[in-house]
Amino acid sequence: MGMLPKNSKRAAAIAAIAAFLVEPNAMPAWAQTAPPTVVLTVQADKPGAVINRDIFGQFAEHLGQGIYGGVWVGKNSKIPNVRGIRSDVTAALRALKVPVVRWPGGCFADEYHWRSGVGPANKRATTVNTNWANSIEPNTFGTDEFMDFAGQIGAEAYISVNVGSGTVEEAADWLEYMTADAPATGAKERAANGHKAPYRVKYLGLGNESWGCGGPFTADEYVTRMKPFAHFVHNQNPEQAPPKIDFAAIAKDLMSGKPMDSLPRNPKGMMRVAVGPNSLDASYTDAVMKAWKERSPIYWDIEGLSFHHYTYGTSPFNELATGFGEQQYATVLKQTLGMEDLIAKHSAIMDKYDPRKSVALVIDEWGLWLKPMDGTEPLHLRQQTSLRDGIAAALNINIFARHADRVRMTNIAQMVNVLQAMIMTEGDKMVLTPTYQVYRMYVPFQDAQFLPISLGAGEYRFGAISLPSIDAIAARGRDGKVWLALTNLDPNKAADVTANAPGVSARAAIGEVLTADAVDTVNTFGAPNAVSPRPFNASASGGALVLHLPPHSLTVVHLEP
Ligand code: AHR
Repeated sequence: MGMLPKNSKRAAAIAAIAAFLVEPNAMPAWAQTAPPTVVLTVQADKPGAVINRDIFGQFAEHLGQGIYGGVWVGKNSKIPNVRGIRSDVTAALRALKVPVVRWPGGCFADEYHWRSGVGPANKRATTVNTNWANSIEPNTFGTDEFMDFAGQIGAEAYISVNVGSGTVEEAADWLEYMTADAPATGAKERAANGHKAPYRVKYLGLGNESWGCGGPFTADEYVTRMKPFAHFVHNQNPEQAPPKIDFAAIAKDLMSGKPMDSLPRNPKGMMRVAVGPNSLDASYTDAVMKAWKERSPIYWDIEGLSFHHYTYGTSPFNELATGFGEQQYATVLKQTLGMEDLIAKHSAIMDKYDPRKSVALVIDEWGLWLKPMDGTEPLHLRQQTSLRDGIAAALNINIFARHADRVRMTNIAQMVNVLQAMIMTEGDKMVLTPTYQVYRMYVPFQDAQFLPISLGAGEYRFGAISLPSIDAIAARGRDGKVWLALTNLDPNKAADVTANAPGVSARAAIGEVLTADAVDTVNTFGAPNAVSPRPFNASASGGALVLHLPPHSLTVVHLEP
């Protein structure tokens, strides 16, 4: 304290907090009223893994209004659309630079037969969506409509094939329909349906939740069932298809004792994602990775292992989406941060079989699963999404970024009108949720290079629940700038963060801040901007760049020289 000006309240607060970090009981009561000050140092000279832009992926299932009403309104709708796909939704999604969309499910995928959804609209099958409230599935949104939608928003396709109730032949034919070039029969059929050029398929999901709605299979049963899908289903798009395999060279490598891992990979032209763990249960992680380790990669392989984990609060379908108190706020954020341990646990098992991290952990379903909105069909999973949920999304993204060497794609559940959605629609109305705003603010982190930070995160405590008050990540964006994303979890206290980046000239921090008066604030059709980002600007003074973070907020800035 001796070196600080005696009359400076902020300096005194800094000294108190510094003392508190060393000896927690040293924090005097008065200091708790001043904004806590924490120091964040960016290690710009120690870059980590690239934060794959596919970490910001989306998921669109035939469930409730996820597709019908949310994406598809039909060509004759009064709602402005391009070939049946609503234009307000595609415009909003383009601003997110959505890298990839997973479709058609979810549980729906393992009962989906693609032939029901191609060809003239009036000839398509009508089916029943047995997973989701027995809704009638008109199949008017099928493969060509999905690919059109993906093209309109500039996203890659992640197709989940039916491993549960479908056949390998059906899946192989579907890929031929989507990706083959003439003269293959599938290519001709696609051309007859209006699309001559092959589509791109970047990811192939080998079933969905095969331990549950997509099975149920034991882990070993799944491995046996999955292998032929991984082997016989090919992406034939000439842009993506792999070169012909040089068997002579491979044989030579094997004879000379080269490890399996060094053999040519991705021979199917797309990333195949096998079903993996359900939250804590690691049986699939172990069985699939063990089989992978023992595989002969020229015959079958996978490039990703799926992981599903939802945050339910007290219990699925029951956690309040609005009108909740601080207890519920703290509980949900505490559970959210549990994602860190889950990733660490499954990554450790993967490391055992795959120390080079060749197989990605693909978190292709995650998010908050809350109480459905009153008056809606519970199995349509239509819930409100509040500022708290946006903060939870930011915390998850930060965790994924810290594990970017293994986590190379995630798909939040789900994109429109379902669970922790980006967008809600009703008739011709559309509203962007706080989670949408978070995704938009994080766009500069797509394909950015992770930069480690050190941070005295402080503590936010509610009853027995203890959380860090600040959570943050840093990255060097594709624009060359150093970007920071800082979350203040404390719902009651602002925080001052002193940002340092040795070797980087930072005279200002410029960006946006997302907050609202209350943590359960939602955007509604009547009040669409209740939670929307405001400009944020901080300038260095006296050599210190201090960012003032409001309570319960997300701030995303770049450092300005
Ligand atoms: O996202 C909703 C459902 O949750 C998916 O269909 C299923 O895979 C998961 O259980």
